[in-house]
Amino acid sequence: MDKKTVGLSETFKGQTSPKTFVKNPINGTKFTIAISSAKGGVGKSTFAMNFALALKSIGLKVGILDADIYGPSLPKMMSIKDKPKSEDGKSMTPINQYGVQCMSIGFLVDEETPMIWRGPMVTSAIKTFAQKVLWNNLDFIIVDMPPGTGDTQLTFAQEIKVDGIIIVSTPQEVALSDVKRGIRMFDKLKVPILGLVDNMSFFESDDGKKHNIFGEGGVEKLATDYNKKFLGKIPISIDLRIAADSGKPLVEENSDHKISKIFKEMAEKIKESFL
Ligand SMILES: Nc1ncnc2c1ncn2[C@@H]1O[C@H](COP(=O)(O)OP(=O)(O)O)[C@@H](O)[C@H]1O
Ligand SMILES: [Mg+2]
Repeated sequence: MDKKTVGLSETFKGQTSPKTFVKNPINGTKFTIAISSAKGGVGKSTFAMNFALALKSIGLKVGILDADIYGPSLPKMMSIKDKPKSEDGKSMTPINQYGVQCMSIGFLVDEETPMIWRGPMVTSAIKTFAQKVLWNNLDFIIVDMPPGTGDTQLTFAQEIKVDGIIIVSTPQEVALSDVKRGIRMFDKLKVPILGLVDNMSFFESDDGKKHNIFGEGGVEKLATDYNKKFLGKIPISIDLRIAADSGKPLVEENSDHKISKIFKEMAEKIKESFL
């Protein structure tokens, strides 16, 4: 297993003593891309599922790891009711759905179980997903992160080899101020940010008119200000929302849809930068 040792003179939490972290890659994948956002409800999971299926649709082998221990979305958005199986009682086989390998903290707990995981437990759950899941020969794992800059982000940034972060935001000011904090954290921890996505960017009415419900251009401007790539805009779409709720993401359900094409273009861009 190739390990990458990274020395950080300072950790995110501001400890000043030098500490060396060993970043282990997730077993069974070439690249790991995490989807992050400052706030919940900005469409991170919707993006993660559709983006993963877009990568699959252009011929890549893909897995999705739902690491949002506080609000796992994968079982519902990908319509998975089975639990993963373990042949030896130590490792777990991911569940294959729509041609992608899926694993979620949601498989392991009931929907009603309150998520009171804290620090060390979060870390150990993530390590289990990275090391004990039998991901099979993947090009990419897409990790759906919880919102914010907490323990999950810190564990991924310090202990797992993450090849890139995609930050999803909506364009209104309150969301953007938190995005800045996220950018600073990943920069400080030296995890490459692949770019920013402007979700729920605008609404196009039947007459073709675009309505900038949450404001215009904020995410793109932020990307420029922080010297990051802007990956594109995803409009507010009833079809995207209905597909997510019905358990079959839009890219899978209707691959010719205007929005599916946006996801596929982004997938092509990311593929080119890695393979
Ligand atoms: N571009 C969009 N247009 C319309 N609805 C969207 C869009 N993106 C996400 N949604 C909807 O918004 C809600 C929150 O999205 P979700 O992906 O769960 O957010 P997060 O993972 O950031 O908490 C879901 O009901 C989802 O279907
Ligand atoms: Mg989510």
